Amino acid sequence: MLNIAMLGSGKGSNAQAIMDAIAAKKLDACIVCVIADVADAFILERARQHGAPAFFVDCAPFKTKLAGAAEQHVLEILRQHGTDVIALAGFMRIIKGGLLAAYPQRIINIHPALLPAFPGVESWKQALDYGTKVAGCTVHFVDAGTDTGPIIVQRVVPVLAGDTPEMLHARIQVQEHEAYPEALRLIASGRLQIKGRRVLQL
Ligand code: GAR
Repeated sequence: MLNIAMLGSGKGSNAQAIMDAIAAKKLDACIVCVIADVADAFILERARQHGAPAFFVDCAPFKTKLAGAAEQHVLEILRQHGTDVIALAGFMRIIKGGLLAAYPQRIINIHPALLPAFPGVESWKQALDYGTKVAGCTVHFVDAGTDTGPIIVQRVVPVLAGDTPEMLHARIQVQEHEAYPEALRLIASGRLQIKGRRVLQL
């Protein structure tokens, strides 16, 4: 059984998809805690409804990274709850060295684009503005770069004429909700191996 800690900043639909996969016994895992950097983030409410411990960690004075006392606080919570894997789901802060060193190759993230295209924020909007014909999502291991770590799962969605950014993001999210449990199933299987940039299945 894989002990998953989730970090998020927003509505938590990916966290919900993972919780639903666990409840439906499609993923042999347990959500040991959910941590948010926004006090009223709905992901915390979803955690409570699922019966998982939910924590708000104030990350001030930093605006874009998890560092300093807040990083220490997060590490403490993760350790207290026996975390195997940290799953970032819409956590809008950069993860720094302390957490990466404490959980090497055990932090994963979901990104709303086909990496390495369109890292950063509002990637679905970047894809639309660029005029790509396909978009998608990526689940990847987190490394010291921004959205640069080895790729575990990718799903493709079409970009349709008349798409607004919201419509495209909604279509990507449908695939995210399949891709994230799938990536966690692969990790739980213990058969993933990272070789250079490549994630191989043994
Ligand atoms: C998701 O679309 C995720 O890919 C994105 O935030 C959304 C969170 O949704 N993450 C990023 O943009 C990270 N750079 P959720 O709170 O409903 O899971």
